[in-house]
Amino acid sequence: MELDLKKLKDQAMAEFKKSKTLADLDKLETKYLGRKGELSAILRKVKDLTGEAKPKIGQLANQIKLELEKIVAELRHEFGHLADKAKPAHYLDITLPGQKPALGHLHPITIITRQLEEVFVKMGFMVLEGPELESEYYNFESLNIPATHPARDIQDTFYIKDQPGWLLRTQTSNQQVRTMEKYGAPLRAIFPGRVFRCEATDVRHETTFYQLEGLMIDKDISIAHLVTALKVMLKGIFKKDVKVRLRPGYFPFVEPGFEVDVSCLLCDGEGCGLCKKTGWVEMIGAGLVHPKVLQAGGLDPKIWSGFAFGMGINRLVMLKYGIDDIRLFMSGDLRFLEQF
Ligand code: PHE
Repeated sequence: MELDLKKLKDQAMAEFKKSKTLADLDKLETKYLGRKGELSAILRKVKDLTGEAKPKIGQLANQIKLELEKIVAELRHEFGHLADKAKPAHYLDITLPGQKPALGHLHPITIITRQLEEVFVKMGFMVLEGPELESEYYNFESLNIPATHPARDIQDTFYIKDQPGWLLRTQTSNQQVRTMEKYGAPLRAIFPGRVFRCEATDVRHETTFYQLEGLMIDKDISIAHLVTALKVMLKGIFKKDVKVRLRPGYFPFVEPGFEVDVSCLLCDGEGCGLCKKTGWVEMIGAGLVHPKVLQAGGLDPKIWSGFAFGMGINRLVMLKYGIDDIRLFMSGDLRFLEQF
């Protein structure tokens, strides 16, 4: 029996070493070491032995089993290594479904603001942005709105704690005198930007919104220049002629002053929630620059004149896309934003 065992061992070793693939090795392992394998068959006979032979043969059989198991493990390791080597180091399975990167896009306010800028740049206007944290001087006083003026109540805003005289700008008109001081006359510029008001919110009012201000200073500027610029602007956005209506309006920094209404494109002038059932949407404040403002900007009102307008960009975007609640813009609601 001892001889049988040794023969088995030599034969198994030789065959194991000849194996070339993992599959060969698996087969041989079952043949020699499996439950119904040759070694198990011998081990089963050990229990029928008697006397000294039993532990001796038992020990030998176990030792041979261990040796064979060891060589199988070694070979398996080697084959595994070769298989790994056959794969390229950066193995890329191009049949796997890809990961779609989540791409964002521009906010509707930004989309329209850029279109507005394009329209005005073609008419020779500079695009300037101003500070959102502003002094009372540029936001109010330089615009002919002294501290005691009731117009300050309509434009109540957020004042900066411990910094008297500083506030969040209520209007892009804060750029008027700043720009006259910096560039002098003649001058054509638009000022798109964010403005703030301490306001109870509803479908038409927000504490934070966007305006586009336009300012043109030159000699002999009239209301005709103003109306033309506004019509070109609206046509640039709506791609068709849009009806406008001028009503007298009071703004301390223009004289004369107007409220410019645009025919409601949401209901085609029929009357809806956005236009308060009037068929018109109040969207633009405008007028000819007040002599006191020209003076504050260092310009002589006897030589220079100009027009200014301020438009609510949110309202324009609402008309353009048929949006019925201004609060959606700042909501961050993807169901809203993904529609653009
Ligand atoms: N700044 C004014 C507002 O916010 C609009 C305006 C701008 C009016 C320029 C006249 C001229 O209501």
